[in-house]
Amino acid sequence: MLEARGVTVRFGGLVAVNALDLDVPDRGIFALVGPNGAGKTTLINALSRVCPVAGGTVRLGDVDVLSLPPHAAVSAGIARSFQRAELFPSLTVLENLLVGLHSTMQTGLSGALMTPASRTEEQAARARAERVLRDLDLWEVRNAAPADMPYGHQKLLDVARALVSEPALLLLDEPFAGLTEAEAPRLLACIRAAGERCAVLMIEHHFELLEGIAQRMTVMDFGQKVSEGTPASMRTDPEVIRCYLGTGRHRTAAASAC
Ligand SMILES: Nc1ncnc2c1ncn2[C@@H]1O[C@H](COP(=O)(O)OP(=O)(O)OP(=O)(O)O)[C@@H](O)[C@H]1O
Ligand SMILES: [Mg+2]
Repeated sequence: MLEARGVTVRFGGLVAVNALDLDVPDRGIFALVGPNGAGKTTLINALSRVCPVAGGTVRLGDVDVLSLPPHAAVSAGIARSFQRAELFPSLTVLENLLVGLHSTMQTGLSGALMTPASRTEEQAARARAERVLRDLDLWEVRNAAPADMPYGHQKLLDVARALVSEPALLLLDEPFAGLTEAEAPRLLACIRAAGERCAVLMIEHHFELLEGIAQRMTVMDFGQKVSEGTPASMRTDPEVIRCYLGTGRHRTAAASAC
């Protein structure tokens, strides 16, 4: 269970996330929605230790997340994708998946020495990477350079990189934005499956899509929680209609493929 209390992020005089509380259960799909600039990405950045946090506490099970150094987030079970795919351009698709996995391996120094234990772990990691690439229909392009792939494939690869570490908490920042009609259903199936195994916290502007997969959602505006509940209850919530659903920003063409 992720338990965030009073999380606050400031950029100079701007309070991008303002004393926000959030509880995300161990399994299932939890959505974060709200208008542009509401602070959704900043909250995910805070939870994944990508940006400094001015106040509050975050616990994932027994782990005090805000005391982790940024590079330790993945080994603590927190993985994330980015609003704009963040990939290593000089590595292949497969290498992009494998590169982050060493930090999650148990064998440490012996990993560098290629002992039998580390070799077994390496093989398991490769098998996981292959499975994730096949699930997202990227196996055929495993040796391609990310820059040579269409944007939607790059987004899928960014999500694949987060999935392959088998996190306890999977943070996805608008994973469907930029996907084609052919790509979106593959991702939808992968996210559904991930929600059976771990906690998924997903930013998404496509409300109809969320009604199909999310159990709960938090609606943010100006860094604060406006409301929280099931997608059906949020659709009729007057505050949510005022700040978000009534503005027309909640729909994206790419994700309507789902
Ligand atoms: N690194 C930064 N430095 C200064 N201000 C920032 C920084 N990152 C975000 N902000 C500001 O913080 C606020 C929240 O931004 P954020 O990107 O979290 O919004 P968002 O809800 O993800 O919006 P969108 O739906 O457009 O992605 C905005 O006012 C934004 O301009
Ligand atoms: Mg954002």
